[in-house]
Order: sequence, then C-alpha cells, then structure tokens
Amino acid sequence: MKRLERKHALAIRWFHWINFPLLAIMIWSGTLIYWANAVYLKPPQWFWKALHVPYRLAEGMAFHFAFMWLFGINGLLYVIYTIVSGEWRELVPDRRSLAEAWQVLLHDLHLRKEAPPQKKYNAAQKISYTLIIVMGVFSLLTGMAIYKPVQFGWLRWLFGGYPMARFFHFWLTVGYVAFFVIHVGQVIKTGWNNFRAMVIGVEVVNE
Ligand code: HEM
Repeated sequence: MKRLERKHALAIRWFHWINFPLLAIMIWSGTLIYWANAVYLKPPQWFWKALHVPYRLAEGMAFHFAFMWLFGINGLLYVIYTIVSGEWRELVPDRRSLAEAWQVLLHDLHLRKEAPPQKKYNAAQKISYTLIIVMGVFSLLTGMAIYKPVQFGWLRWLFGGYPMARFFHFWLTVGYVAFFVIHVGQVIKTGWNNFRAMVIGVEVVNE
C-alpha cells in the first residue's frame, strides 16, 4: 500500500529554494568582479567574452554587496530554525559518519551491495549538508575580511592576511559549484519522489 509521509518542513523548503537563486546571483556577481579584467587565472579570450563578464566590475560589486545580505540572513534563519526545531539532529554528523559515508560512496559506485542503515539522511549527506553550511559561514567571514579589510582588520589577520582571505573566498565558490554538480546529480539519480518532497514536503512511501 502507498501512503504519504511528511519529509521536509515548509520552512526548510523555503530556505532551500530561496538559497538557490541567491547563491546563483552571488556566484554570477562574484564572477563579474573576478573577471572584470582577466588578470587572474587568464581564461581563453573566447570563453571570457562568451560569458559576457568583461569590464562589469561596478555592476558585479553592486549585486554582490546587495545580495550578500539576503544570502546571509536566509542562511542564518535556516541555522536558527534547524537548532530550534531540533532538525539539526538529522543533519549533523556523528563519530560513525565518516566510516559510514565511505560505505555510502562504495555503494553509490556499485562496489558494495548494501548501504549502511540511515534515518532521514545518510552519512554522506549529513557531512555534505553540514559542510556546505560551514562553507557559507566562511564565505561570509572571508567576504567581510576583504570587503572591509580595515574595519575587520582582526578577521583579515585571522585568515592570514588579505590575499589569503581572498584565496579562501574564491575557492569556497569553486566548492559550491562542485557541491552543486554532485548534489543535483544525486537528486536526479534518486528520482522524482525525493525531489518532489523538497517542493511539496511529502514523500510517497511503499509499505
Ligand atoms: C537545482 C538545484 C537544487 C536541487 C534540485 C536540490 C534538491 C534537493 C533535494 C531534493 C533535497 C532533499 C534531499 C533528500 O531528501 O534526500 C535537498 C536538500 C538539501 N540541499 Fe538542495 N537542491 C538544489 C540546490 C541546492 C543548493 C545550491 C544548496 C546549497 C548550496 C543546497 C543545499 C541543500 C541542503 C543543505 C539540503 C538539506 C536540507 C535540510 O533538510 O535541512 N541545495 N536538495
């Protein structure tokens, strides 16, 4: 028999789907800043031009510094919600998670028959969903260090100076893109029922 089971709270779904366009805008405007002038990691000229990014520094900064607020506020509300609702228990890895995540990986690669038992999220999901939030915090902190390096001099110092803070800020972005590719790949692989649950909140369960 089939029945519907509650999976994701409304608040989680809102935070999740609001985050998606916000992060996209942050990455896009970050690219406008980074490649306003192709002095860093010189891309092939055709690629740089095809992206329509050259010489749009002011525009990129305006978007970046406006939307960072929404990105930060949405992330903060998500974290507060997970703590207050107790959802964090489903998300934060424990001391078995690393070993189990390895088994999940082997299972996903069809190198192991059985997946380890799990509750809402498997160990690999717990690690990556927690890591992505920690990355968000670091993006905001490294961003502050390079946005106001004088006022936040202590933050700049903590990250090992301005160039290092910039370095972390950039590579965190590359990390989001990598997360996104794997995350969406996994969602496609897992199927419609799982995806739909992140939209309408319930999942169809076969008994
Ligand atoms: C097209 C883009 C995206 C799709 C289709 C998508 C889809 C999903 C789905 C279906 C789940 C539930 C997984 C499950 O129940 O097993 C999920 C969870 C999650 N996704 Fe995404 N996602 C997208 C973008 C993102 C982005 C950009 C981020 C962050 C950078 C993100 C972070 C998360 C997190 C942290 C969770 C766990 C949420 C919780 O339960 O508190 N997702 N996503």
